[in-house]
Amino acid sequence: MKACLITGGAGFIGSNFARMMVGRYPETHWVVLDKLTYAGRKENLSEIEKKSNFSFVRGDIVDTKQVERLFEEYRFENIFNFAAETHVDRSIESPGQFIMTDVYGAYVLLEAARKYEVKKFIQISTDEVYGSINEGSFSESSPLMPRNPYSASKAGAERMAYSYFATYQINVIITRASNNYGPYQYPEKLIPLFITNAIEGMDLPLYGDGKNIRDWIYVEDHVDALDVVLKYGKSGEVYNIGAGQELENRDVAQMICQQLEIDPTHIKPVKDRLGHDRRYSLNFDKMKALGWNPKKDFQTGLAETVSWYRDNQEWWKRIKSGEYKEYYQRMYGHQR
Ligand code: NAD
Ligand code: TYD
Repeated sequence: MKACLITGGAGFIGSNFARMMVGRYPETHWVVLDKLTYAGRKENLSEIEKKSNFSFVRGDIVDTKQVERLFEEYRFENIFNFAAETHVDRSIESPGQFIMTDVYGAYVLLEAARKYEVKKFIQISTDEVYGSINEGSFSESSPLMPRNPYSASKAGAERMAYSYFATYQINVIITRASNNYGPYQYPEKLIPLFITNAIEGMDLPLYGDGKNIRDWIYVEDHVDALDVVLKYGKSGEVYNIGAGQELENRDVAQMICQQLEIDPTHIKPVKDRLGHDRRYSLNFDKMKALGWNPKKDFQTGLAETVSWYRDNQEWWKRIKSGEYKEYYQRMYGHQR
C-alpha cells in the first residue's frame, strides 16, 4: 500500500484535508504527523482515527531523527506540508517559533524527501507571502513582499522548497491559498473568534477601521483544490487558490451578527494590528485552467460555519477555557 504524509494534519485545514483524502483514496495509507501544539487537536481527526488506511503520529517536523524514522517506516510517496505556526498576531508577539517550525521544519522535511526519494512534495503556502495590494490581484509571478513574521516565515519556507526543486530536482509544488474559514478553525482567527464570541454574548474586537479586505475561501474548496494540484499540478510551479469573495472585515462582522441575530453594537473597534496588511487579492486563473473552481459562496459557507460552531460548543469551549484564556486576556483584555 502506498503511503502519503500529512504534516500538521490535526490543525484546521490539515484535518479537513485528511478527512477528505482518507475517504477518497482508501488504497492509500494516510499518515498525519502533528506536534499537537496549542492549535492541533487529535479530536479533529476522530471521524477517521479508526480507519484502516489512517495513522496518527505525534511528533515535531523539526526533529530530524523522528522524521527520518517515519520515512524509513512508511517510504512516503507524497508529502503535504501543512505544519506551521499560523497566527499573525502570535507571530508579532513572538516570531522565533515561526522561523523554527515554518522554515527550519520545512527544511527537515525537504531533506527527508531528498534522502527517501519522495515523488511529490506539496508545500502549503499562503497568499500572505505577496504582502498587501490596494488594487488589482496578485498572480503567481508577482513579487513576494511579506510584511509580518508569519508571512515572512512562510515565504522563507516555500522558497526553500523551491530551491530543492531547482537544485535537487525534487518534485515540489507550492500552493498559496487565501483566508480559509469553516469547521474546526481555532477560535483565535477572525471568523471563529467572532462567531464564538457572539454565541457567548461577548464583544467582537474589530481591528482599526475594519476596512481591511480578505478573500474568503471555504476550507472544503481549498482541500479539494489540493487534490487537483496533486493530480494535475506541475513540478516547480506555484498555484494561487482563491475564491473571488473579497469582503471588508466590518462586513464579515455584520454578517455574523445577522446570522446569529445579535445586536451589531457588539462589534467594538480596538487597537489596530501592527503592520496590518490592508488587502489580499488573488488571481487564480492557473487553478481554473487545471479544472478547479471554488463552489461555496460566502453566505452559504458562513451559515454552515455558524451552524457548526453552534452545534459543536463543547469543542470550542474546551479550547477557550484552556491556554487560550490567557492569550485572549493579553490580546484584548476583558471585553464583555
Ligand atoms: P493551524 O494552526 O490550525 O494548524 C497547524 C497545525 O500544525 C496544528 O495541528 C499544529 O499542532 C501543527 N504543528 C505546528 N507546529 C508543528 C511542528 N513543529 N511539527 C508538527 N506539527 C506542527 O493552521 P491552519 O490554518 O490549518 O493552516 C495550515 C497550513 O495552511 C499552514 O501551513 C498555513 O500557513 C497554511 N494556510 C492557512 C490559511 C488559513 O487561512 N488558515 C491560508 C493559507 C495557507
Ligand atoms: P485573521 O483571521 O487573523 O487572518 P489573517 O491575519 O491571516 O488574514 O484576521 C483576518 C482579518 O481580521 C485581518 O484583517 C485582521 C482582522 N481581525 C480583527 O479585526 N479582529 C480580530 O480579533 C482578529 C483575530 C482579526
